[in-house]
Amino acid sequence: MLRLLCTTILCVIHVFTLISNAKGQEFTELEMAHYREKIKSMFYHAYNSYLDHAYPYDELRPLTCDGQDTWGSVSLTLIDALDTLLILGNHTEFQRVATLLQDTVDFDIDVNASVFETNIRVVGGLLSAHLLSKRAGMEVEPGWPCSGPLLRMAEDAARKLLPAFQTPTGMPYGTVNLLRGVNPTETPVTCTAGVGTFILEFSALSRLTGDPVFEDVARKALRSLWKTRSEIGLVGNHIDVLSKKWVAQDAGIGAGVDSYFEYLVKGSIMLQDEELLSMFLEYDKAIKNYTKFDDWYLWVQMHKGTVSMPVFQSLEAFWPGLQSLIGELDSALRTFHNYYTVWRQFGGLPEFYSIPQGYTVDKREGYPLRPELIESAMYLYKATGDHTFLQLGRDAVESIEKITRVPCGYASVKDIRDHKLDNRMESFFLAETIKYLYLLFDPDNFLHNSGLDFELGTGPSEDCVLGAGGYIFNTEAHPLDPAALHCCSRKQEERRELQDILLNLSEPLASPQDAQSQETDSETEPPVMDPSESIALKPGSRRKAPLLSCPMQPFSARLAVMGQVFTDGT
Ligand SMILES: *[C@@H]1O[C@H](CO)[C@@H](O)[C@H](O)[C@H]1NC(C)=O
Ligand SMILES: *[C@@H]1O[C@H](CO)[C@@H](O)[C@H](O)[C@H]1NC(C)=O
Ligand SMILES: *[C@@H]1O[C@H](CO)[C@@H](O)[C@H](O)[C@H]1NC(C)=O
Ligand SMILES: *[C@@H]1O[C@H](CO)[C@@H](O)[C@H](O)[C@H]1NC(C)=O
Repeated sequence: MLRLLCTTILCVIHVFTLISNAKGQEFTELEMAHYREKIKSMFYHAYNSYLDHAYPYDELRPLTCDGQDTWGSVSLTLIDALDTLLILGNHTEFQRVATLLQDTVDFDIDVNASVFETNIRVVGGLLSAHLLSKRAGMEVEPGWPCSGPLLRMAEDAARKLLPAFQTPTGMPYGTVNLLRGVNPTETPVTCTAGVGTFILEFSALSRLTGDPVFEDVARKALRSLWKTRSEIGLVGNHIDVLSKKWVAQDAGIGAGVDSYFEYLVKGSIMLQDEELLSMFLEYDKAIKNYTKFDDWYLWVQMHKGTVSMPVFQSLEAFWPGLQSLIGELDSALRTFHNYYTVWRQFGGLPEFYSIPQGYTVDKREGYPLRPELIESAMYLYKATGDHTFLQLGRDAVESIEKITRVPCGYASVKDIRDHKLDNRMESFFLAETIKYLYLLFDPDNFLHNSGLDFELGTGPSEDCVLGAGGYIFNTEAHPLDPAALHCCSRKQEERRELQDILLNLSEPLASPQDAQSQETDSETEPPVMDPSESIALKPGSRRKAPLLSCPMQPFSARLAVMGQVFTDGT
């Protein structure tokens, strides 16, 4: 019944969408250049405000012109903005900041950090900066890109996250103390994206450094999560990483889940990995079958497939871009146009938009300067050359300027209806929003390279090709060069051989088959827990009221919105 009702309403909205998308403005090269300059000046206004008022804190508070630590006390905005500097062509500042970070940032600190956020922002940001450092004119050490100071920092940060993965399921806890590992009272409940958003950074790390541990834990978590999908092929929103029970059973493509699907697709492309792609394609069937209504995506109960929340979330706007990567262009375009009408209705995307009501949802009216719709516009413009996507870019530049610009930076919008502001500028504004905007208007940027340019032979492997394009953006918009991963594979093989030899020397009786099966068999065995790093909760011990750890707000606040929180009562 609800389904039928929704479908009817959606039809009406859909027709409206088609009518309102009559051909619009074409952009000349001069106008493109104008927007590039404008976006650059937006970047510098925000970036210099951060340096002047907030550094070394994580983030700028744009209304009070000061700073605050948010995700871990690591000068996060600087790490997140580093590769954007290069993309805008600022080599000297890239060099200055890369050196500054090496000298000042320390991950041996007593901080409870989000495993997810630390991975995508810090590990991802440092990896990408490492791979771009030569292009930025930095002197690289022999062995680069398989070694280097920024790579060591990324590895350092990632090692701090490893204790979170030592669970019986291989799915990580949401929070880890960078100094002490997982806190004994840590909740085992985390969101789906918090389990499935590691393969890009962790496999890149493993392949660059030769240490397989990162890729192994990321894959184990993915396989473990895959096995928990429901009979109808969906995953929920929050899971208990000790018991594998789904605690929040809303299935959808937005908050709490989003980048899990993104990493299956992007991981399959970057690693040429069929297993990841086939997982995604299975999910995609169920998503289309149960959650998609007239090119909108709703939230449904993961076991029954019944609609639980007929809302569109701002975070879901990455989906059309992702679809373009697997060739589903028609569907991507229709969904993008649905979302663009919402942008035009408010001059931004509210966190939640009720599709039946065609309006914002109570307490979810904010727009924290998110990038997702702009990100999709970049992919779709690349795929089609249609200037509608540049119009979205122009609209975004103009609303961000008009609504959110303040003397000390850009402020999150607390309420998209009256344009009240919040004292926050998240680091993703410089890492993602500005970057995707700039890339949208800069079709000749090196990141759009289609393979005509490349660089040869810097890695230890002679057939090493770098910078040939095909960059994969992590979910914080940090680009990774997939070719670099191959550069280091020979080094990795040598390292394996060396390990074999050492193993032979120390254990003359061990057969090579044993050694090999230990190395490759990561699918079936539960991880061996190292008692010295023992974590939390023995089975059966009482848990404290769970503090849910996830990107953004606590999930109870997010999912109680329509009066429907799906908890497992048993
Ligand atoms: C690079 O960034 C720094 C710091 O904002 C600025 O002073 C400098 O003018 C910029 N250089 C270029 C070429 O944009
Ligand atoms: C980290 O979390 C634990 C457990 O909740 C708490 O006891 C500890 O004080 C926190 N540490 C910091 C630095 O916030
Ligand atoms: C689609 O959903 C229907 C029930 O609504 C189900 O019978 C069918 O098996 C589903 N197909 C796929 C491919 O999931
Ligand atoms: C290790 O020992 C086995 C048999 O003892 C041998 O077949 C294998 O080649 C050795 N591996 C290396 C790398 O020396």
